[in-house]
Formats: sequence, C-alpha cells, structure tokens
Amino acid sequence: LTLPPCDFTVFGGTGDLALRKLLPGLYEQERRGQLPAGTRIIGVSRSPLDDARYRDLVSQALFDHVAEDHLEAGALHRLMTRVHHLTLDAGSAEGWDALHGLLKRDGEEVVRVYYLAVASDLFGPICDRLDDLGLVTPQCRVVLEKPIGSDLASSRRVNDAVGHVFEERQVFRIDHYLGKESVQNLLVTRFANVFLEPIWNSRWVDHVQITVSETVGVGGRGEYYDKAGALRDMVQNHLLQLLCLVAMEPPTHVGGAVGTAEDAVRDEKLKVLRALVPLTGPDVDRATVRGQYSSYGEELGHPSTTETFVALRAEVQNWRWAGVPFYLRTGKRLGRKESTIDVAFKEPPHAMFPDSEGVSTPNRLTIRMQPDEGMQLHLTAKHPGPGGIRLHPASLGLTYADTFDERSPEPYERLLMDVMRGIPTLFMRRDEVEAAWGWIEPVLERWQDTAVEPVRYHPGTAGPAAADRLLAREGRAWHGSER
Ligand code: BG6
Repeated sequence: LTLPPCDFTVFGGTGDLALRKLLPGLYEQERRGQLPAGTRIIGVSRSPLDDARYRDLVSQALFDHVAEDHLEAGALHRLMTRVHHLTLDAGSAEGWDALHGLLKRDGEEVVRVYYLAVASDLFGPICDRLDDLGLVTPQCRVVLEKPIGSDLASSRRVNDAVGHVFEERQVFRIDHYLGKESVQNLLVTRFANVFLEPIWNSRWVDHVQITVSETVGVGGRGEYYDKAGALRDMVQNHLLQLLCLVAMEPPTHVGGAVGTAEDAVRDEKLKVLRALVPLTGPDVDRATVRGQYSSYGEELGHPSTTETFVALRAEVQNWRWAGVPFYLRTGKRLGRKESTIDVAFKEPPHAMFPDSEGVSTPNRLTIRMQPDEGMQLHLTAKHPGPGGIRLHPASLGLTYADTFDERSPEPYERLLMDVMRGIPTLFMRRDEVEAAWGWIEPVLERWQDTAVEPVRYHPGTAGPAAADRLLAREGRAWHGSER
C-alpha cells in the first residue's frame, strides 16, 4: 500500500506528550520504513526555536524514550530531515501565515494531520484558523487528545467547534489504551475463540474488576491534573473504554475494509455506555471512593481537594450483565504499576469434593495490560499424590514476551499509523465521548454538591481502605491487592 506523503503537524510540539510519546512513535514508524515518502513532521509551539534547535530537543527525547536497541543512526537521521518547528501561539491570531507558507504544497497530494496536543479550549480556535487559511481539505485529519472538555456541556462545545470545520470521519479522538496490544487482544480472545462467549454473562460471571494502578505521582503535570482529577483523567476515558470492550456484544466484524468496519465496534461500545446504570445522588456516596495521596498537596505546592484515586462500582443494565458489578479503580502513587482486567467467575453450582483438603478457587481470567502483557486463567487443580483429594489453585498463562518474538508496539505508534492510513476504529466517536461524560457528570456533581473531601492514603500502598470496603461489603476483595 503506497500512502501519499503526510504533513504531520503537532500543536504542543514541545510538550510532554509530543516528546515522550508522539515523536518516539513516529521514529519507530521511520525505523520500520512505514512513514510515507515525503512525510514531514512539524512541531508547533510558542518556544522560539528554529528547526536545528527543535531537532536537538527531539533527538534528546528519542535518546531518552526509545529503547536503546532501537536507536539506529540511519533512522534517526532520516527522521530528523523531516522535522521542522514553527513558533506560534495557538491562542493568538498572529503568525499563522508562516504555517500556511509551510503547509502549502501546490499540486501535490498530501494528507495533512493536525495533532492537537494542547488544552481542549484551544481546539475550536485552532480549527477555525486552519479553516480560514484554506488548510482544511477533505484529505485532512484532526487528532484530539483527551480530555475533551471537562464535563458534558464543555465537551459538546468542543466537539461542536471542531465539527464546524471537520467532518466526523476526519476527527480522530485518541484514547491510547485502545492502542495497547493486550487491549486489542481482548477482542481477539473474546471473539476469535468459542470457549468464553457462552459463559461471558451474568449466569457465570460473578463480577469484573478493572484496575489501572500507577506508581508515579502527578510530577510536572500538576497544573493540568489538579483541575482534572482521576475521574476525568482516567475513568471517563481509559477505564470506561476497557469496561466497554469487556461488556460489549459481539460486533458484526472487527477490521476489514475501511469505511465499513469502523462503526461496528464503536456502535457496540456505545450501547454499553448507554446501558450503564446512572450513578446519581446518594448512590454516588455508596458506590464511589475518592482518595488523594498524602503528599499530593506538597508535590503540587498548595493544598487541594482533587482526587488522585477513584474506586467505583458500576452496573451494565442489559440482558447479559444485569446484576453483575463492575468494580473500577485507578490511582497515582500506589504500590505497583499494574493495569489488569479480572473477570471473576461464579463458584461451581455443586460442591463435589466436600471431603477434600484445600479450597476450590473460583475461576478467574486476568488480562494483564502491564507490566508483562498477557493473560492468566486461574483454576483449581488436584494436588498430585495418593490418598484423598487435595485441591490446589493453579493457572494457565500466556505472556506476550514468551509467545511472540516481536515486541509489542507502543500504543501511540500503532494509533499514529492508523491516523495516517485513515482507519478510525480504535478512536472514540463523538457520541461515545459524550455518553461517557453523561455517565460521569452526576458523580462529579454529587462530589461537588456534598463537598466530599478525598480520603488520604499513603504513597506506595494499595490506596484508601474505603476502596476495600466497597467490595468487602458485598463479600468480595480486589485481586492482588495485599496491603
Ligand atoms: C494518561 C493520563 O492518559 O494515561 C495519565 O493522563 C496517566 O495521568 C496515563 O499516567 C497512564 O497511561 P499508561 O499507558 O502508562 O497506563
């Protein structure tokens, strides 16, 4: 497949995301010879940098963030020849002619990608300016970084402003969790095999746990994070997207010809979001836990009531899932860096080994996104030996590292390639983003109305004890969360 050249313009070109994720992702594409010939990468920022100084910054970022054995002089050199910088304050009307001058390529077929790695209140103004300059054609695409707005109304405003200039098919709303190999593998595991689907329902599943636990704090992102908090930063997007992939009905197809396939998965995810039982009023108090690590204020430089940890209990109200709790939790400065989905099955209907020693452990499928991507099916086995039966917990495991020779691409690498190819399946559609905000918003409102202070937790732990109680009062416990 020969792709036309791409002018990949990153607004926020000197930002953390561009340097840590986007440029390393583009570099990997370069290394594998996948960047279309004639492609340019244009970093846009307010910094007064010329191309040479921006290239220095980018090189440093690549040395810092690309695996050492992937750093190849030839690929680095080729990438650098594509890199440019333009000094521009996206919030002001000045300086746009220079962008116009750089992007105008008469007579050439070029795909222009505008990557908006800036605050979402700038999305509308940037799109308008691009439109005014005649830089928006049907071949253009715009990539929106999350968070898109900070509640339903503001996300609608942002989507309206972008939608005023770009058609929905040109808008790529990125959620990098959808670019993780293990997340895509969840679809394959569910739908390219037959053994799971018959038991993937309330009859056999006791509950589902989704955990995204981080050891990092907010670091240099305090200004953004303190306004957002964990519910907006992680739950509204990544965790709800994971919940959708676990809970959705089989789509008619995944993949296939562009133009037909992309909506099949997104339609199913949307149905799940719309089936989430609304959490409102006092239900919010019972079903959510807000936490903050004890050194957060100190790290930030001022006291704050923003949550850095959330645990909540959700339910999907449909035939397949009625009554099955979905427990979600995420937090910063916890004891481990770990992202997992646990599907916990029910006990066997009949206890057949009443005189056995040991205990029967209910089956559980763990999908590990990080570290060490893979899956584990927990079961009960007989401990070898004569005499009576001794039950023993055992597991079947699949790790990507042992099974495949190839390394898993970084999510951004995969997703940026999809943008260049114009494949939107792994991006969020407007209606999904808004449905997710619609579900989250009453929680935010309740927290605000009741002025719920986050419970403090010590850095390096599994988070506040209240998160354990959320499950304990229903006779359950988080998996792998020894305190
Ligand atoms: C980002 C959040 O979307 O995801 C960050 O804004 C978070 O706060 C990050 O650290 C986690 O991503 P990953 O891939 O490291 O789990």
